[in-house]
Amino acid sequence: MAVGWRPATLLLVFILTFLWPSDGNMYLSGKKLRSRLQRDRRNVRPNIILILTDDQDIELGSMQAMNKTRRIMMQAGTHFSNAFATTPMCCPSRSSILTGKYVHNHHTYTNNENCSSPSWQAQHEPHTFAVHLNNSGYRTAFFGKYLNEYNGSYVPPGWKEWVALVKNSRFYNYTLCRNGILEKHGTEYPKDYLTDVITNNSIHYFRVSKRMYPHRPVLMVLSHAAPHGPEDAAPQYSNAFPNASQHM
Ligand SMILES: *[C@@H]1O[C@H](CO)[C@@H](O)[C@H](O)[C@H]1NC(C)=O
Ligand SMILES: *[C@@H]1O[C@H](CO)[C@@H](O)[C@H](O)[C@H]1NC(C)=O
Ligand SMILES: *[C@@H]1O[C@H](CO)[C@@H](O)[C@H](O)[C@H]1NC(C)=O
Ligand SMILES: *[C@@H]1O[C@H](CO)[C@@H](O)[C@H](O)[C@H]1NC(C)=O
Ligand SMILES: *[C@@H]1O[C@H](CO)[C@@H](O)[C@H](O)[C@H]1NC(C)=O
Ligand SMILES: *[C@@H]1O[C@H](CO)[C@@H](O)[C@H](O)[C@H]1NC(C)=O
Ligand SMILES: *[C@@H]1O[C@H](CO)[C@@H](O)[C@H](O)[C@H]1NC(C)=O
Repeated sequence: MAVGWRPATLLLVFILTFLWPSDGNMYLSGKKLRSRLQRDRRNVRPNIILILTDDQDIELGSMQAMNKTRRIMMQAGTHFSNAFATTPMCCPSRSSILTGKYVHNHHTYTNNENCSSPSWQAQHEPHTFAVHLNNSGYRTAFFGKYLNEYNGSYVPPGWKEWVALVKNSRFYNYTLCRNGILEKHGTEYPKDYLTDVITNNSIHYFRVSKRMYPHRPVLMVLSHAAPHGPEDAAPQYSNAFPNASQHM
């Protein structure tokens, strides 16, 4: 999120949980099938997909342009019309989402000091929800923007798959830390556009995970930089809002 030049800056958080249908194998014997169903019932836990968007606050009205998202997320789900962020600033809020703690407990008060700092790494990062869900058997994956000062020098604990943006929002010319290896991206839309990299990588991970471990639940975070500036629209949308050319 941006620095404090707008009174209230919120992250929008969508959480989807759903069950993946188990693959019914008609050729299993009755006994085998019964024991597999018993095992599945014990293991059945929802997949969790947390989608973060950045700077998508009510005042800017960008949800009005996202009819498909509203149909899928709001009309087919739940919409909290009176929700609050306790500290509507980027790194403090992200640190709270990760730990479940208020800012006065995780001590990341700004987008700079203690944002991904050594003390954060030592004291708080070992206790994020990723660590707990991984310990309980979830396959955990993170894609996209992490903490503003995250510099790609380490993979935080708890994440089996880690594809995180180094530093703050960009859509081209950025670096990702992919499971500990830095990966530079340039300016070619089909290869580099961050929004699509997040989408493609996460869909791929989910499919492969379900193929390889059909009984294990997945937790994925899709942490989009959009609609945060810089306003580098995907080419097919670049003329959709002719008058919206800059950050307000
Ligand atoms: C979204 O839906 C509204 C009506 O509900 C319509 O006026 C608008 O053009 C639609 N926007 C897009 C981008 O499709
Ligand atoms: C950073 O966090 C540590 C421990 O969480 C705290 O002791 C320290 O005061 C914080 N630093 C700042 C500048 O807030
Ligand atoms: C990245 O941040 C860590 C602290 O989290 C620091 O020790 C390291 O020197 C930084 N690396 C670079 C390349 O800036
Ligand atoms: C996930 O949890 C398992 C079991 O507790 C542990 O062995 C593994 O190291 C953890 N993986 C990560 C990436 O934290
Ligand atoms: C990316 O970097 C190239 C080369 O430095 C530059 O020409 C281009 O304008 C940059 N594009 C964006 C969107 O930052
Ligand atoms: C994402 O996948 C689509 C469909 O396969 C492809 O056309 C596009 O180039 C991919 N984009 C990125 C950034 O990987
Ligand atoms: C865009 O701005 C121009 C000039 O101010 C105005 O004439 C036009 O109606 C605006 N278009 C839209 C779609 O708001």
